Amino acid sequence: MVNHALDQLKLDKKPVNLYAPVSYILSLGGKRLRPVLTLAACDLFDGNLQNCINAALGIEVFHNFTLLHDDIMDEADKRRGHHTVHVKWNPNIAILSGDTMFALSYRLVHSKSTGDNFLEVLNTFTQTAIEVCEGQQYDMDFETMDQVTIPEYLEMIRLKTAVLLGCSLKIGALSANASVSQANVLYDFGINIGLAFQLKDDYLDAFGDFEKFGKEIGGDIASNKKTYLYLKCLELADASDRKTLLDLSSSATQADSKIAEVLRLFDKYSVREQVISVMEMYFNKAVDTMQSLEVSPQKKHELISYAKWLYKRDH
Ligand code: IPE
Ligand code: IPE
Ligand code: MG
Ligand code: MG
Ligand code: MG
Repeated sequence: MVNHALDQLKLDKKPVNLYAPVSYILSLGGKRLRPVLTLAACDLFDGNLQNCINAALGIEVFHNFTLLHDDIMDEADKRRGHHTVHVKWNPNIAILSGDTMFALSYRLVHSKSTGDNFLEVLNTFTQTAIEVCEGQQYDMDFETMDQVTIPEYLEMIRLKTAVLLGCSLKIGALSANASVSQANVLYDFGINIGLAFQLKDDYLDAFGDFEKFGKEIGGDIASNKKTYLYLKCLELADASDRKTLLDLSSSATQADSKIAEVLRLFDKYSVREQVISVMEMYFNKAVDTMQSLEVSPQKKHELISYAKWLYKRDH
């Protein structure tokens, strides 16, 4: 349903260098999890999916816009197994195509189909868009800081990633005429699965397989990202390994030897297991959040299973 609706957006327009990257990034697919969450949340309250499909598409277009700009900021060459837009075209094109997608996402979310809760939908989307930018700025600021704490990291990923999952669910619920407090339960569910989701993204960036993940492995280490893996390793390391880690993460080099050395320390201090247990903790918190919601147990179960798949995924 999502891919079919995206095909209807008629993006083969001029100037070609503005629209071709938009079509390109959208055609590379991805998991489409945000629109799926919107549709699932709408269905959870027995809503008509036609009432939220435009908002769901708008959120997916917004997400893809953030990827275009994120890949410039992270100097990432690969996305979904293909060249990123700024590599295939150039950074200026990726900036402007991204800007267009941001406007396009508003046009889609703005469609009045979301009914009586229209203003709440729009406010939720706007607040989320601002928070994603705040999270992205913290993410970049942390690259050159060596005193980042785990709570600061968690707040950064809440902003850059989790709020958009919360927003996707909340908008789906609002389109089905759920009350704001019911929609907020789903938002909180989304925050917790979003934290687990970004922890898994960081995990796959270090331990994943390029063929499945579609992004260059070790990119976060190369650009000195302060991930949970890194911060936990720093906390557990002895004085000498701690110094090695700090030295490596303050160097501008992106050398393979730096990635290999950091991965060796991640292994030495079993940070894989640490991150898996914290992901599970957030997933369980998400499940708890849903307890209070009085909806079809079957549909609730399906949504929870989908959330579980999201943090168990390998891509
Ligand atoms: C990538 O999101 C950016 C993050 C917030 C981790 P996804 O992992 O949802 O990317 P696609 O859309 O499936 O490619
Ligand atoms: C990105 O986090 C979050 C947003 C795009 C807002 P990452 O930088 O980890 O995402 P990937 O790994 O490049 O997809
Ligand atoms: Mg990033
Ligand atoms: Mg990135
Ligand atoms: Mg990542």
